[in-house]
Amino acid sequence: MTRPGRPLLEAVGLTKRFAAPSGLFGPRRQVHAVESVSFSLAKGEVLGLVGESGSGKTTVGRMIMGLEQPTEGTILFDEREIGGGTRAELLSVRRRIQMVFQDPFASLNPRRRVGDLIAEGLEIQRIGTRAEQRAEVSRLLDLVGLPSDAANRFPHEFSGGQRQRIGIARALAVKPDVLVADEPVSALDVSVQAQVLNLLQDLKEKLDLTILFISHDLAVVEHFCDRVAVMYLGRLMELAPRETLFAQPRHPYTEALLSAAPIPDPAQRRERIVMQGDVPSPIDPPSGCVLRTRCRYALPACAAAVPPLAEAGPGHFKACIRDDILPRPVHALQ
Ligand SMILES: Nc1ncnc2c1ncn2[C@@H]1O[C@H](COP(=O)(O)OP(=O)(O)O)[C@@H](O)[C@H]1O
Ligand SMILES: [Mg+2]
Repeated sequence: MTRPGRPLLEAVGLTKRFAAPSGLFGPRRQVHAVESVSFSLAKGEVLGLVGESGSGKTTVGRMIMGLEQPTEGTILFDEREIGGGTRAELLSVRRRIQMVFQDPFASLNPRRRVGDLIAEGLEIQRIGTRAEQRAEVSRLLDLVGLPSDAANRFPHEFSGGQRQRIGIARALAVKPDVLVADEPVSALDVSVQAQVLNLLQDLKEKLDLTILFISHDLAVVEHFCDRVAVMYLGRLMELAPRETLFAQPRHPYTEALLSAAPIPDPAQRRERIVMQGDVPSPIDPPSGCVLRTRCRYALPACAAAVPPLAEAGPGHFKACIRDDILPRPVHALQ
């Protein structure tokens, strides 16, 4: 469901080019990790960002977190440019956006007790006395479904799912408005994935969180997101309300991506669309539409210009000039 209202977070023309490793001679080359990506999140909305590995999802998340400086483009929070104000304002905006990582173990210092790990943000922001911080840690542990004695233990004593709960408690400690969750359940077993997704869903409702949910896994996104944005080779291909994207994809890349996703009901089995060739190098992406070298609908015109992300229906955007094709509906939502 798409919610009306002004955007809480907006990415405008976000672009990131990294210097590619190169020799002493010859031109310096760049990795086109993210090119001109724009989207917005309304308060309380969950936007899924999907695409194969290497499509630029993490780089988008890291730019929003301020962990990576955009080469071009801006990020607006509450209609103000992040970094446009004073240092104090920047710190306060940074507090309001927190990240949940794919591998909670890698992001947690193994030698610190869980309680201290969760309280880290409170310490850094100097929020509350020691006693208040201890009380807050127990409240957070309860919120994410862990016992309060977890505070005294170390991360390695917990299972993957529990460690992800610790990671979520840590992100929530400073009371953010926005979570950037980068493949938060991708490292977990399927049964545990559902538990952590349910927890995120509950927390979203309870705390009115706005979430950018990054995942290569369409099944996870279908379960969780209000709208979905699809990336390929650094660019946005399609963006639509969840039901629309899954039932009526309009972009050839989304069609292929959906056709490759496993579906539980064999009665709905469909033709798998295999794209030709490999993903081109982001150091030398194709001109015009980056998908054209692999797209079965490509025309000579597709090489000429980058297709704009144009409205194809209510709230439905696609970056494809072929308005005459209608990729087949893939499956109805169960
Ligand atoms: N620090 C970096 N230096 C050079 N290239 C990078 C760096 N970080 C990411 N990339 C490249 O940018 C592209 C997008 O990566 P990433 O955002 O991690 O994609 P995803 O999260 O969708 O898998 C990839 O080609 C990746 O190799
Ligand atoms: Mg990634």
